[in-house]
Amino acid sequence: MNSPAPRRVLVTGAGRGLGLAFVRALLARGDQVLATCREPTANTALRDLLPAHPDRLHLLALDVNDSARFSAFAADVGAHVEALDLLINNAGVLPTGERFGQLRAETLEATLRTNTVAPLLLAQALAPALARGRRPCVANLSTELGSIASTRQFHSPSYAISKAALNMAGVLLGAALAADGVRVVNLHPGWVRTQMGGPNAALDPEHAVHDLLQTLDRLPADCHGAFLDRHGQPLPW
Ligand SMILES: NC(=O)c1ccc[n+]([C@@H]2O[C@H](COP(=O)([O-])OP(=O)(O)OC[C@H]3O[C@@H](n4cnc5c(N)ncnc54)[C@H](OP(=O)(O)O)[C@@H]3O)[C@@H](O)[C@H]2O)c1
Repeated sequence: MNSPAPRRVLVTGAGRGLGLAFVRALLARGDQVLATCREPTANTALRDLLPAHPDRLHLLALDVNDSARFSAFAADVGAHVEALDLLINNAGVLPTGERFGQLRAETLEATLRTNTVAPLLLAQALAPALARGRRPCVANLSTELGSIASTRQFHSPSYAISKAALNMAGVLLGAALAADGVRVVNLHPGWVRTQMGGPNAALDPEHAVHDLLQTLDRLPADCHGAFLDRHGQPLPW
């Protein structure tokens, strides 16, 4: 089988965990990568990749909570690439230690802002660049913890609520972007050994990203907001 043509890909939260694994895997397969994180100049893992990929790796500063900057950021993106083929909305937060009876509005609101509002508004700001892309796609890093149908226990409420809402944001984005041929998918990566997933998680980030990229390669043209596991199997909403 021929390998796919190089793509222009933007990754949020690219400094560690799954985001960094995406950057490494995309560079290894020849893609052009716009790796974004809050402090790219301080991130040695990303900076160390630059010498080997001076023309294909661009490090851009982006705090996804700073949505007021998104249109200026879209212009920064335009200075590097004339179109985007893939936006990976990867940045996310998981507050720990939440207990019913002690929930705080600040935690719920901050989590929604990063995990739900940011991916939706960033995709909106980058929609024109995506519309010019080849087989363009928005991939939201969701989780099975955002599945309403599968939820039985009171667990990580801010995270679960924000990811259930992200799934809805993905469906709405899918509807909004369908006319431009932009596919949208909400992906559960599995339980992955990162700072968020912890040391006991089942998968290493490279393995999860390998499967996720295969699923993205096979995504049909009419994928407008599906909720899939890393192998491409549908998950219950
Ligand atoms: N690991 C798992 O088992 C698992 C399972 C299901 C879904 N996911 C999802 O996969 C995605 C990546 O998770 P991970 O496991 O790689 O987590 P992680 O190791 O905790 O990394 C999270 C990334 O998000 C970035 N981030 C957080 N807030 C940000 C902000 N305001 N602006 C820019 N970047 C921000 C972090 O950047 P800083 O370094 O600046 O903090 C970091 O790069 C998340 O959306 C998560 O919900 C993970």
